[in-house]
Amino acid sequence: MIPVTDTGGDCLSTVQEDGSNNGKNTVNVQQDQRQQCQIIREVKESDFESIMEIENTCFPGELAYSRPQMRFLLFKAKSVTLVEESGRQITGYVTALFRKNSDIAGIETIGVAPSSRGKGTGKRLLRAVEDSMVHRGTRLARLEVSAGNSEAIAMYRKAGYEVTETIPDYYIYNHNGTKNAFRMVKAINRQ
Ligand SMILES: CC(C)(COP(=O)(O)OP(=O)(O)OC[C@H]1O[C@@H](n2cnc3c(N)ncnc32)[C@H](O)[C@@H]1OP(=O)(O)O)[C@@H](O)C(=O)NCCC(=O)NCCS
Repeated sequence: MIPVTDTGGDCLSTVQEDGSNNGKNTVNVQQDQRQQCQIIREVKESDFESIMEIENTCFPGELAYSRPQMRFLLFKAKSVTLVEESGRQITGYVTALFRKNSDIAGIETIGVAPSSRGKGTGKRLLRAVEDSMVHRGTRLARLEVSAGNSEAIAMYRKAGYEVTETIPDYYIYNHNGTKNAFRMVKAINRQ
């Protein structure tokens, strides 16, 4: 079992992938309220509404996953979803999708609440989900991002992703003024 937590501040906690944290839950929550530190952990059913709220602000209208799509992605698909919690609020989420017998996995979606942006949440989530991917045997992380999404592209580049392809009309609807996407990849066989 690997730790999936990347805490900020002085909060010392290690949440395991099965959701347990060696009996330190209460301590974590108290520290979290006082210090507003961040905890990254696996998604729980009770996170669903917060995730949908962030999803709908990140991807307005038809660009967002529907509730059934999101439920499938989070709880039924061969996937891992991590959330960042700060002061008991979900500030962001990321989902990676795995394929059977493949060492390539996809970063399917990542979103940070507007009020929490620019504070490192995206970076921390990306790093944590890559750790989870490595733990599951992934060697190459792959994603598609709107060619007009300069913030996300900057985040991925800074994290070591490179554009390998431009895919015309990848999206049905315009995202950031274009339907085109970049495919980006990163080798994540860290060990
Ligand atoms: C893209 C997104 C996830 C970034 O989350 P975030 O928590 O604000 O990002 P971070 O604070 O961790 O910043 C990580 C890096 O992203 C880049 N970045 C973030 N915001 C940026 C901005 N407004 N302008 C330019 N670069 C930006 C920077 O390179 C930054 O690294 P640095 O702080 O070391 O310079 C967030 O803007 C978001 O949720 N957007 C809407 C949803 C979305 O587009 N998801 C991606 C779909 S593929």
